[in-house]
Amino acid sequence: MCGIIGYTGHRNVQEVILKALETLEYRGYDSAGMALAYADGALEVAKRAGKVAKLRAMCEKQSAGSGKKAAVSGIGHTRWATHGGVTDENAHPHTCGRVTLVHNGIIENYQELTAKYGLGEKLVSQTDTEVVAALLDHFYEKDAKTAIREVARLLKGTFALGILFADQPEKLYAIRNVSPIIAGVGKDGREAFLASDVTALSEYVAEYFVVPEDTLTILEAGKITLLDNENQRVEPDFLQVDWKLGGNGKNGYEFFMEKEIAEQPEVIRETISCRCKDGMPDLSIDNIPDWLLSKYERITIIGCGTAMHAGLVAKQFMQPLLQLPVTVEVASEFIYEEPVVDDKTFVIAISQSGETIDTLEALRYARRRGAGNLSIVNVKGSTIARESEYVLYTNAGPEIAVASTKAYTTQLTALYMIICRMAYVRGVYTAKQAKEFVSALLQVPACVEKVIADKESLRRISHEIMDASDVFMIGRGLDYTALLEGSLKLKEISYIHSEAYASGELKHGTIALITQKTPVITLVTQTKVVSKELSNAIEVKARGAKVYVLTSEKVELEEPGQWENVYRLPALRDEFMVFPAAAALQLIAFYVSRDKGLDVDKPRNLAKVVTVE
Ligand code: AGP
Repeated sequence: MCGIIGYTGHRNVQEVILKALETLEYRGYDSAGMALAYADGALEVAKRAGKVAKLRAMCEKQSAGSGKKAAVSGIGHTRWATHGGVTDENAHPHTCGRVTLVHNGIIENYQELTAKYGLGEKLVSQTDTEVVAALLDHFYEKDAKTAIREVARLLKGTFALGILFADQPEKLYAIRNVSPIIAGVGKDGREAFLASDVTALSEYVAEYFVVPEDTLTILEAGKITLLDNENQRVEPDFLQVDWKLGGNGKNGYEFFMEKEIAEQPEVIRETISCRCKDGMPDLSIDNIPDWLLSKYERITIIGCGTAMHAGLVAKQFMQPLLQLPVTVEVASEFIYEEPVVDDKTFVIAISQSGETIDTLEALRYARRRGAGNLSIVNVKGSTIARESEYVLYTNAGPEIAVASTKAYTTQLTALYMIICRMAYVRGVYTAKQAKEFVSALLQVPACVEKVIADKESLRRISHEIMDASDVFMIGRGLDYTALLEGSLKLKEISYIHSEAYASGELKHGTIALITQKTPVITLVTQTKVVSKELSNAIEVKARGAKVYVLTSEKVELEEPGQWENVYRLPALRDEFMVFPAAAALQLIAFYVSRDKGLDVDKPRNLAKVVTVE
């Protein structure tokens, strides 16, 4: 939910921190702040409610012409508020005595600790984080390592902490539990960084590592030391930086979302092609063994939001094909509904960030029950990836816009490749059929490309619906599951209320909401239900709705003259129509948001990574 950065080295610390916060801002943007440490022990904190741009203006104003000496290290934070409102006081970093720190996570027992150690009068904010600073200052005598371990043992909850001690300005300390921290030494060997994710470090380091949980990490210029609970050195598992943001990362687009929509053909192609061998689906690049795909009697897919929607699409296709019971679970509900999960269950966890705590807890629950497990994750080395027995990394590259687009379609691609391999190893597909499937899937990128090239036609739909208060989306089967995602896109970036509905269910109540000119988008691409979908569309049209028919070039519309707004998607096999449909629905939502003048990439109240339950 928040982004943290730490730096010690020879560069302009303020600029390194600000630039990293601008990159990490997608993780939360209610407030931003930084602390700069100077060799003489001086410490400067600048923080305020609002986005990083406001912090930058504040810092540049403060430092203009100050002529002061250069800072030697610093920490920074961009916040998604959990405890305490969006105010300057609640912005991080928080300082107490000699300690200044930034935090990502939630300390569940902060009030109990405040009372137990009599910290109340030291606190000026309403945050759980400030209590951690006060505790550290309380325990800090001479040795920072001892104080940090004492405090970490007291904390209940999740934390990623970046810590500065005023009397050790050249050193940064970090420790984590669940919430992510990565670290790396600069390419020139003279600086060290810590951050919430690799997007903030990709231009400075060639390799990095995930800070192991409960491992005390000490950063000095050009050196990082990891110590376990017995103060023994720990060697990190290095990962190579293979994500390049380039420039400010938008490559000429106004918004990351537009860029990431446009990247879909390429990243879908990459996600397929590295898993093809002689035309066959081949998951050996992911070290996924065939027995994992053939052993289990039922499948449970877990995820949140868009990731969960990808699971719903997969279920529509894989359940009838494999004749296996498939359930798709909202991860935040999963562990509370006593699900039937055991050693006969194959659990697939889907998560772009690999840090969504609801999905992580659901995965842990499933593993405790002996389920086979595989995660489909985009961020390398993320917690969900590291806690899964098997992981398939999608090739989407960094997805910065809060609204997921290319991560979704590469999740779908990964799922389809897994399903195809499962069908083959289970004898449902012959090798010929598996090759035909992969060959047809390789047509998807070009079709998505076509939709993106036709964005002006979709923009016309956006303009017609952008002032609506409610937009309904109706379809059946795969169309319905694709619309659930399309409806989420519209909601989360345009703030228009939208509902995706199984069109056959509409007349059991919700159709009462349809009035004159209510916009209804219907997706009609699944051969076996086209006529039913169209008759449901006629039902809402008869009640005054303005219907937009998204269908495929191959669908014959009965009485085509009755439909004023028909948008034709390039035709693919029915089960692949979710891809061009996704691109169309993403663009419709994008243009509504952009043309309403909203912050498409950073919608209100949201954050890219949800690390609180
Ligand atoms: C999608 O547009 C949203 N940003 C959100 O629903 C997201 O998909 C969800 O929070 C899951 O995130 P994850 O894939 O990183 O686990």
